[in-house]
Amino acid sequence: MTGPEDDVADDFNADIVVTDDPRPDRPAAGWDDGRGVRFGAPAVVVLPYNESKSARNVMRSPEARLAEAEGLARAIALDVVYSEVIKLRVTSASTLFGKGQIARLAAAVAAHDAEIVIIDGAVSPIQQRNLEKTLKAKVIDRTGLILEIFGERASTREGTLQVELAHLQYQASRLVRSWTHLERQRGGFGFMGGPGESQIEADRRLIKDRIVRLKKELEDVRRTRGLHRRQRQKAPWPVVALVGYTNAGKSTLFNRLTGAEVRAEDLLFATLDPTMRAIKLPGYDKVVVSDTVGFVSDLPTQLVAAFRATLEEVVEADLIIHVRDISHPDSDAQAADVMAVLTGLGLADELKRVPLLTVFNKIDALDEDERAAVIQRAGEDAIAVSALTGEGLDALRAQTAILLRSGSHVHDIHLGAGEGRRMAWLYDHGEVVGRLDDEAGMTLQVRLSDTDRARFAAL
Ligand code: GTP
Repeated sequence: MTGPEDDVADDFNADIVVTDDPRPDRPAAGWDDGRGVRFGAPAVVVLPYNESKSARNVMRSPEARLAEAEGLARAIALDVVYSEVIKLRVTSASTLFGKGQIARLAAAVAAHDAEIVIIDGAVSPIQQRNLEKTLKAKVIDRTGLILEIFGERASTREGTLQVELAHLQYQASRLVRSWTHLERQRGGFGFMGGPGESQIEADRRLIKDRIVRLKKELEDVRRTRGLHRRQRQKAPWPVVALVGYTNAGKSTLFNRLTGAEVRAEDLLFATLDPTMRAIKLPGYDKVVVSDTVGFVSDLPTQLVAAFRATLEEVVEADLIIHVRDISHPDSDAQAADVMAVLTGLGLADELKRVPLLTVFNKIDALDEDERAAVIQRAGEDAIAVSALTGEGLDALRAQTAILLRSGSHVHDIHLGAGEGRRMAWLYDHGEVVGRLDDEAGMTLQVRLSDTDRARFAAL
């Protein structure tokens, strides 16, 4: 006999594409709403669009948002075969879209043999289940998609753990809600303890255990990381952190500046975990540059903690370089998103003490008029560059050095007659603004950053 409860239990494990997962000790793909998409799978991308005057709508056109969602889908190697903005006047609690819209979407899915439908918005577990049934394709919402991307890109131990935790929490919330739904139906039919129930119960327990273990592992990893950071602070090199909207060109700029080979792809989110390298700058023999994960708008709440922890380097930085794709039509909205995300992560206070330098990247992609306008707009406050051609990078290096020095104070430093080496160091690393010779040696008035002051003291 097939009752509705079997239906739900079957749906729960239905049609999940399992791919080889090289990462050990992961939950079975059968739990998965988001993970396990097939490389190169044909996908349909849909943006549910509600014509409200929300901030997101005002800043960005639906077309631009659809293009961004397509970019995110391509970031996990899906083959986008069809995309559409679907206008929503009312939202259906059971299917999200209206009947006619679903019929049209189902036809598109069938016509393109799509295996996956990406819905760039929030989709409830019930909506997801119903849509999967009607569309005969796996449905992934925005949170699931970003989780999928984070999961593929996380490379450090901490990054991997954080993403997995976020994924399990997302998963658990869906299980609980399916469960409530199931219980209600069971109550109606008056029997308990069927196979569906014990399966879900077992899954819930496994997820809960795994979450507890993950949290503990994360704590251990964080402790070790804290130790490393303290060690670095002891060797006081200035730290410069690159931040920016996804695909702004951070990794490309990082490679240019450091001569390093970090994966730079025409894919969103090519970076999840901070990557650090040391470079030389005018007046500095060692500055640590740190590349961070790309920002997106509407970061799903389940992902905030994972994302915040990848930004620890930013909070500790002596200078933040905000890389912007100035050739992108939504460049201003993206910049606003980056700042909003930083503030939303509760980092506003920490960030107030860190100077910020804006970089207008990709000026090679502009025509002559646009280029002139961008250079004029950059003025004193921003640096226009092309990470691709290297144009403007000397100006960027010089300005970085100036700003690193500007969080600084003028110190009176007395030097004895035999301290030529220390004097040379001060001329190298600081800005000497005055000099007074006396019998015992000299007093230099030197502008030094706090880190350089500490370095000098340690000489
Ligand atoms: P996430 O890792 O997603 O945050 O991206 P990112 O900001 O690190 O961007 P990445 O360096 O991977 O660059 C994204 C795309 O932009 C790549 O295709 C780069 O080749 C391209 N790109 C980067 N800098 C420039 C530039 O100055 N000019 C042009 N035309 N393209 C650039």
